[in-house]
Amino acid sequence: MCGIIGYTGKKEAGRIMLDALELLEYRGYDSAGIALSDENGGRTRVAKCAGRVKDLRSLCAEKDVSGHCGIGHTRWATHGGVCDSNAHPHQFGAVTVIHNGIIENYRELIEKYELDGKLLSQTDSEVAAAVLSRFYQGDPYAAIRKTVLKLRGTFAFAVLFEDIPGKIFAVRNVSPIVAASTEDGAILASDVAAIVPFTTQYFVVPELHVVCLSGDGIEMYDLSGDRAQIEWMTVDWDITRSDKGGYPFYMEKEIMEQPRVIEETVRPRVKDGRPDFSAEGIGDDVLVSCRRICVIACGTAMHAGLVGKSLIQAIIGIHVDVVMASEFMYNDPVVDENTLVIAISQSGETIDTLEALKFARKCGSPSISIVNVKGASIARASEHVIYTHAGPEIAVASTKAYTTQLAVLYLLAARMAIARNLWDEEQTERYMSELLRVPDVMEEVLARKEEIHHIADTILNARDVFMIGRGLDYSILLEGSLKLKEVSYIHSEAYASGELKHGTIALITSQTPVIAVVTQEKLKSKELSNIKEVQSRGAKVILLIKGKEVLEQEKIWSRIFRLPVMEDEFMVMPASIVLQLIAYFVSLDKGLDVDKPRNLAKVVTVE
Ligand code: G6P
Repeated sequence: MCGIIGYTGKKEAGRIMLDALELLEYRGYDSAGIALSDENGGRTRVAKCAGRVKDLRSLCAEKDVSGHCGIGHTRWATHGGVCDSNAHPHQFGAVTVIHNGIIENYRELIEKYELDGKLLSQTDSEVAAAVLSRFYQGDPYAAIRKTVLKLRGTFAFAVLFEDIPGKIFAVRNVSPIVAASTEDGAILASDVAAIVPFTTQYFVVPELHVVCLSGDGIEMYDLSGDRAQIEWMTVDWDITRSDKGGYPFYMEKEIMEQPRVIEETVRPRVKDGRPDFSAEGIGDDVLVSCRRICVIACGTAMHAGLVGKSLIQAIIGIHVDVVMASEFMYNDPVVDENTLVIAISQSGETIDTLEALKFARKCGSPSISIVNVKGASIARASEHVIYTHAGPEIAVASTKAYTTQLAVLYLLAARMAIARNLWDEEQTERYMSELLRVPDVMEEVLARKEEIHHIADTILNARDVFMIGRGLDYSILLEGSLKLKEVSYIHSEAYASGELKHGTIALITSQTPVIAVVTQEKLKSKELSNIKEVQSRGAKVILLIKGKEVLEQEKIWSRIFRLPVMEDEFMVMPASIVLQLIAYFVSLDKGLDVDKPRNLAKVVTVE
């Protein structure tokens, strides 16, 4: 987490950094700060404060933040609370540092270098600045090399040295840094979102390499001091897609974009009516040879994995585990060369997913990652990568990334079925035409946004909300419930409806709205019985149901939403949109900061 920016060139660095920090704020928004190099080798100037980038902007309006070279940071607090002194940049002696990551041995370093009483913050980052300052005797590369060898943990550092004006140095281990040349200088950032306004050509700084940015360009050296080659990449994100497009929040804009991004994710991968991953270099051998699949992911991406599990188990008949990446390593994972590991991640930087993937690869597992951000660490660490074409997702609550991950899983399941000769022409045709229909069906749901808004009104003042369903309906409710929790702060729980009676039903009262999803024909009668059970306890039920069938309980629904009809396995797509919009409208009507819920960050690069 934490957003990092650095710019050196002919333009005013302060303005560039503040704009970039706003784009990076989704990585953390506890505090923000910038530092500007003094062109005459004088003291580096720092402006920083607890709060958002807009607070930093106000602070900068009162300070001298002129200059052409600087570094900036937006923080998600780990070590040390949210206050001005813990905000980055941190200055120690001649060095000024911003950091993303965690220095695990910071206590040992405080002791070893007798830093007690000399630090102004409670952060691990300032300790690293102090160690770097101690080693700095005029040679920045040597000082960085020595410092890095003393650190244990994850880090992306950008550094200004007072007596080397106009240059930014950076180094990383695990935590990402990308860099690029601009028309008048150079820029670096924790992720591409911040450099897209300047250029489409960039590179990912390799781990444990030191880069130096100056007005003349970029140089890179490995830790032995040898010059290293830069491997340039191209961003294919359209910058105009990173603004709010007239919507009050990114979350709404991103929900509305889903039909288009699903189309862009699926269409290019359909050849002659069949899914095709030849552009990704994924041959059928990978899909045929595995005996088991293990999906590793966190948060929303893990929920996408759960839908993938149901699909693949139903269609292919092989066992699929979905493991929370943060728990993967602690459960003696059993993965081997017969287990296809699928890592799912919007950012491609979630450290738990990355570490789990690396472990699985060491065990010999073939791997495919499903990632949204091109060139991200998880994409580079896996054998194969399938990019979702969701474009930049800025709202912390993930929406379009989730449904594009689902779209890729639908394609993968179909390719697997074809590669294993499980389907005839007719089955393939039926499935694929349904998949290609998803964008239109999503449009139908989006056109009924106001109807969904009225549904959201009924839970606006609830303290707890339960969401119940079975099978695939339960999987999507896990995601719907997460969405509601993260953006509205209403406690909500998704529960497999058959499991309610084993304890949880004790919590259902007339004050507990229940959202029930019924989209699977084979589960319908059981799901409807479970709904009756909660209604008998006084619960007001909001029902999302496939189709127009008249139900016995018709008059006692608090609200009902009739979902457009698709084959059962595709009902996830329209139902997800309704759940996303319910969460969105509740947050909006509560007057909350929808895109930046409290305590959260979009990219989680700490374990
Ligand atoms: C954070 C985000 C979630 C996301 C999760 C996994 O918690 O707030 O929206 O689902 O990380 O992120 P990834 O980038 O790996 O999909």
